[in-house]
Amino acid sequence: MPSRLRAIPAGVLLVAAGTFGLLAVLAVLGRAFGGPPEVPLPERIPRPPDYAKPLGAALSLGPAREDEAYLDAFLRTFTSLTPENAMKWEVVHPARGRWNFDEADALVDAAVRTRKRVRGHPLVWDQQLPPYAARGDVETMLREHVRTLVRRYRGRVAQWDVVNEPLEDDGTLTQNPWQRTLGERWIDVAFATARAADPEAQLFLNEIGAERGVKFSALVALARRLRDRGVPIDGIGLQNHTTSGNFPSREVLAEDLAAIGKLGLEAEITEMDVEGASPRAYAAAARACADAPNCTGLTVWGVTDRWSWIGEDKRALPFDAAGRAKPALRALTGPLRRR
Ligand code: G3I
Repeated sequence: MPSRLRAIPAGVLLVAAGTFGLLAVLAVLGRAFGGPPEVPLPERIPRPPDYAKPLGAALSLGPAREDEAYLDAFLRTFTSLTPENAMKWEVVHPARGRWNFDEADALVDAAVRTRKRVRGHPLVWDQQLPPYAARGDVETMLREHVRTLVRRYRGRVAQWDVVNEPLEDDGTLTQNPWQRTLGERWIDVAFATARAADPEAQLFLNEIGAERGVKFSALVALARRLRDRGVPIDGIGLQNHTTSGNFPSREVLAEDLAAIGKLGLEAEITEMDVEGASPRAYAAAARACADAPNCTGLTVWGVTDRWSWIGEDKRALPFDAAGRAKPALRALTGPLRRR
């Protein structure tokens, strides 16, 4: 027995060991009978195909627990997980000093147990924001929120959408509570706080509808200003929510990814869905990302149409409502398979 333990009375050691053992048993029982809900992983975890880059999907705990086809399609197809809503401010931090990580923990635990990458989403977004966070000392609350969330998942989240959708469609900065109070430097604060909380995570600026035109130019200009101010930004996320009748071509996305690369930044297609699920639209994004050295992955925003945020009737995802693969799935996965 190590000398330092010999100095402790045997009775004390016995009590300590017993207490530890009891706590361990309680933890197991707690999870089995009424602990926080988990993703019901099967005994045998299906292996997704071998992709050259992460292919991800947004996941929600409710559907994963209720719909076997949804969870099975996710496990056997995707190698990256983005919590669809579980990490949003209103969910994890509903009141000052009150936190609820149950759903986020369940999704991150499942990703770790199935060896999938995790994209944390989002740290700061003015949607799904509890009213308390939008008034008073918004900077302190922003720092506290980002620091707590990033620290909790340090080492388990590969990329964070640090700032989500800071631009209006005309390319101007959204007048959210932080912009109104601090001006553009609120973005600097968010990124610097995230970097300090987890120096390893890659930090992204994520935007909707910015694949083309004035919004893309404004997004690149913003990223350039941040980089030139020494803000620790690593990448830009293009969400690519689109439609079968009007989607960014492979060439447009290739130019976007190259322009982002010229800033020295990584790029990710972060939330793709295509109303009508045109295979050409999915193939365009998959080929552009596969061919771009700085594209770190592609994530679709959901798994099956049944649970799509945009509505089952839009048929926007690679799997139908029953979890059957559509032609879009082959169009999406083909270009990303390791050659
Ligand atoms: O959890 C509550 C539930 O308790 C309540 O009964 C129910 C009915 O009111 O609402 C549930 O919350 C909903 C939440 O999704 C979880 O299902 C919210 O009302 C609903 O607004 C929310 O929608 C999410 C939306 O972001 C919010 O803006 C979508 O699921 C989610 O897919 C969507 O995702 C966003 C990305 O985060 C950012 N980029 C755009 C993308 C699409 O809007």
